[in-house]
Amino acid sequence: MNDIKDVVEEIKNRCDIASVISEYMPIKQSGGNYKGLCPFHGEKTPSFHISSSKQIYKCFGCGEGGDVINFVMKMENLDFIDAVKLLANKCGIEINTNMNEEDKLRIEKSKKYQDIHLEAARFYFANLLKGKNPGYDYLRKRGLDDKTIKKFGLGYSQNAWHELMDYLLSKGYDKSDLVQSGLVNHKVDGDRYYDRFRNRVMFPIFDYRGNVIGFGGRVLDDSLPKYLNSPDSLIFNKRYNLYGLNFSRKNIVDRTIVLVEGYMDLISLFQYGVRNVVATLGTALTEQQGNLIKRYADTAIISYDSDEAGIKASLRAIEILSKVGINIKVLNLKDAKDPDEFIRKYGLDDYKKAIDDSTHYIKFQINHLKRKFNLEKDEERVKFAKEASNILKSIKSPVEVDYYTNYIAKQINISTESIKKEIYGKNYNSAYNKNYTKYTNKKRESIVIEKPKAIEHGKEHVEETLIKLMLENKKIRHVALLKLDESDFLLNGSKEILNYIIKNRELDKITIDKITSLNISEEYLKDLERISLDGININDTKSIDEIVRNLKKNNLQEQMNRLLQEQKNIEKQKTNKDDLKEVDVKVMEIALKIVEIRKMLHSL
Ligand code: CTP
Ligand code: MN
Repeated sequence: MNDIKDVVEEIKNRCDIASVISEYMPIKQSGGNYKGLCPFHGEKTPSFHISSSKQIYKCFGCGEGGDVINFVMKMENLDFIDAVKLLANKCGIEINTNMNEEDKLRIEKSKKYQDIHLEAARFYFANLLKGKNPGYDYLRKRGLDDKTIKKFGLGYSQNAWHELMDYLLSKGYDKSDLVQSGLVNHKVDGDRYYDRFRNRVMFPIFDYRGNVIGFGGRVLDDSLPKYLNSPDSLIFNKRYNLYGLNFSRKNIVDRTIVLVEGYMDLISLFQYGVRNVVATLGTALTEQQGNLIKRYADTAIISYDSDEAGIKASLRAIEILSKVGINIKVLNLKDAKDPDEFIRKYGLDDYKKAIDDSTHYIKFQINHLKRKFNLEKDEERVKFAKEASNILKSIKSPVEVDYYTNYIAKQINISTESIKKEIYGKNYNSAYNKNYTKYTNKKRESIVIEKPKAIEHGKEHVEETLIKLMLENKKIRHVALLKLDESDFLLNGSKEILNYIIKNRELDKITIDKITSLNISEEYLKDLERISLDGININDTKSIDEIVRNLKKNNLQEQMNRLLQEQKNIEKQKTNKDDLKEVDVKVMEIALKIVEIRKMLHSL
């Protein structure tokens, strides 16, 4: 592993803080947590606490605290890099140790700035909870409860010039580091230093790993600017970050993400129970953010403000997200101005319904275009038809083209034929038919291949080979388990064995006799025995990757075949005209799923 950030993340995932600390000192379990005598100051009663859930330690006697890396740094008197190396070694993470001086310095600085930000977040949070203060009153008035305030670490910066600066200086940080991390301003003229954030409610901005890397500060009234944000710094780059991803990435279901604009939108949605949300913080979505979304989701539901600026931003986000290859829908907020207002007014169920009812982006673009024209007038209808056809030019799937062609035709009561000519130009007949035949032929082909429940020999072989490799070799097993799960396999036998493998992942080699008691067919076991692993270089992760990729490909293709078959069956049932609409919708829904699978196949 080369990227130090990934190494740190991996260490935090794998090195349990309690077991690391227990190697240095005796600790006792108390509830879900641990305590012990603080190793950093002399004491007789234990005030040193370890939180298993948060993976941090804190001494309430001397105030020392941090994560597993901080502990090892302090205990072994190591600098950051050496502590990381030690821990990586301890939990079996390989790292590239040939780091040049410059990289090393940069990484140490990043860690320092993150520590500074964490201290600052704690300071602002403590201010908010300390007695009566305008920040707390403001957040309560906005409908946030204590649990939410705590979860998002919201805070308050006092109405004073250098409270935070004094606090951080007392913790031993240099003024220049405070300035460079963006928390303190330096006025060269007069050589004055002062806190950047004053008299604002503070929103810590986290990276996707949960480190505090910046802040947004909101005024408590209507004065401007409404928000003041941290400037870009060594650790903070607005273009690369998505607010809330650290919380939502564990809550993403069906690989779908809701995209909002503001801090308050995201926090409010979370409080009400929508937890697969990220926020772009009011700036135009960037391609880097699009790629970040793509890591976690295949579908994005854009839920921006309902005003003109929000619609414009949605249209821009659509452009970026479709470039990245994500399915996009746009949520309709009815009369509410933003998601925060919507969920407070209508509640969780209505928001969920709005997610389900959200509009496919092509339809959203067409509807938006429609507003520009007076469709009572013939010329404007023609113009609309032309521009709307343009939108469809970017769509690859003929089924989608068909569907939205119908949609446009209905809006202005013209024939679908002429719209298709508009899309495909003069060569409409040949171009369209070629495309269409290509598609339908493929469809027929795969339906022929598909025998009920039978799985092609080649596909079986790939699965069984991978299973055998995972049984025989611990390293391959661990690599493969990071990349796949039960749903990637087609055969029940593979799924059963995979579950056994997961439970026994630490065994060196799992022999076939260990799995005979599982519910697996004779045939499968015989296949496993027959398969030869000669010719597979088990030390070459590329060849393992290739097998995993093939497995995923086969699985997706199988899913696609089933959907195509289903589509065919439904079309066969089309009997009378009344059924037509319902059947079309069903076929369309399946078509959209097929498009999704195609995209996934593409990205493999
Ligand atoms: N924003 C900003 N600077 C501003 C205004 C807005 O950085 N002067 C960013 C903030 O990240 C804000 C987002 O744009 O969260 C969306 O703006 P807006 O919808 O106005 O903010 P809300 O989060 O909805 O805040 P509130 O409900 O408190 O008005
Ligand atoms: Mn708002």
